[in-house]
Amino acid sequence: MKMHSINDDQSASSNISPATFSAAHQKFHAEYGPLAVILGASEGIGLAFAEELARRGFSLILAARRIAPLRDAAEQLAAQYGVLTEILPLDLAEPDPWPKIESVISKRDFGLLIYNAAASPIGEFLDLKLEAARRTVAVNVASPLDVLHGAGNSFRERYRRSGKRGGVILMSSLSGIRGTPYVSTYAATKAWNLVMAEGAGIEARSQGVDIMACIAGATDTPGYRDSVTGKGPGAPVQSPKALASETLNKLGRRYSMIPGWGNRLTAALIYGWTPRRWIFGILRKATGGLRHRDDAQLGHK
Ligand SMILES: NC(=O)c1ccc[n+]([C@@H]2O[C@H](COP(=O)([O-])OP(=O)(O)OC[C@H]3O[C@@H](n4cnc5c(N)ncnc54)[C@H](OP(=O)(O)O)[C@@H]3O)[C@@H](O)[C@H]2O)c1
Repeated sequence: MKMHSINDDQSASSNISPATFSAAHQKFHAEYGPLAVILGASEGIGLAFAEELARRGFSLILAARRIAPLRDAAEQLAAQYGVLTEILPLDLAEPDPWPKIESVISKRDFGLLIYNAAASPIGEFLDLKLEAARRTVAVNVASPLDVLHGAGNSFRERYRRSGKRGGVILMSSLSGIRGTPYVSTYAATKAWNLVMAEGAGIEARSQGVDIMACIAGATDTPGYRDSVTGKGPGAPVQSPKALASETLNKLGRRYSMIPGWGNRLTAALIYGWTPRRWIFGILRKATGGLRHRDDAQLGHK
């Protein structure tokens, strides 16, 4: 499934000269480059991360289930930024994904992993098929656990060997800060990603591994657009491009971060200053208008 092949030696990199990057991007590339893996990379936030990393000269392995959008993304990024790209068709609802990822990156100088894919059924918990909830836990918790452990150990080993840091970004959500009606399973899995990244991140920093949760608010992606009806939840909507750039800039400086000042303000107002028992009415209004979907099989497609 190679588009532009990434060399199997330790020097996999793009053909863009690092001299063309800003000093901050050069430092970022030197720390976490030259190869990044993005899980859930074919559209939305994952694709925006891929584009921002390509802009910073990273070679990329792009993973998702559907091959055609992955191939389009890989070809477009390779053509536009002159970077090396490869696709990895993968269903993260299947157990134990790390060995499959490891077999693709083994022996390469791999320093950054973004776990972006998620399942997000919408509807009252008792009405959802149990299979949808189980699948959500598989994609959003079981597989990130597996991948974080695998990539984290691989990065720790790389740091011992070469002194270069590694980074893992897990995607969380503002909905993971409190119990959130109509997306209760999804929100609970996003709480797990936040708490996991913070705890493991604190432990791993001194060992050369930067682990961070991105606590995203409403972001203009196909998945988000598919869920809103009418005016949507009334929260500010961020562009995936702005989210990706800000999130990457915070890696190594935070254990968790909220991208976008509008989202930080919302978080402070709703989660910081409003008593917990008052919040649920606000959240019920925000998520009650979402289009119900049961993505036990194919996500929102
Ligand atoms: N958009 C928002 O408003 C928002 C808000 C808060 C948090 N987030 C978080 O941000 C992340 C991305 O959201 P998004 O809106 O960009 O999602 P999206 O538009 O639904 O895109 C998800 C990506 O993940 C892939 N994917 C989904 N299920 C997969 C599976 N089982 N195995 C492998 N790949 C899979 C999809 O491709 P395939 O379908 O081809 O597999 C696609 O590339 C998620 O973790 C989400 O929880 C989003």
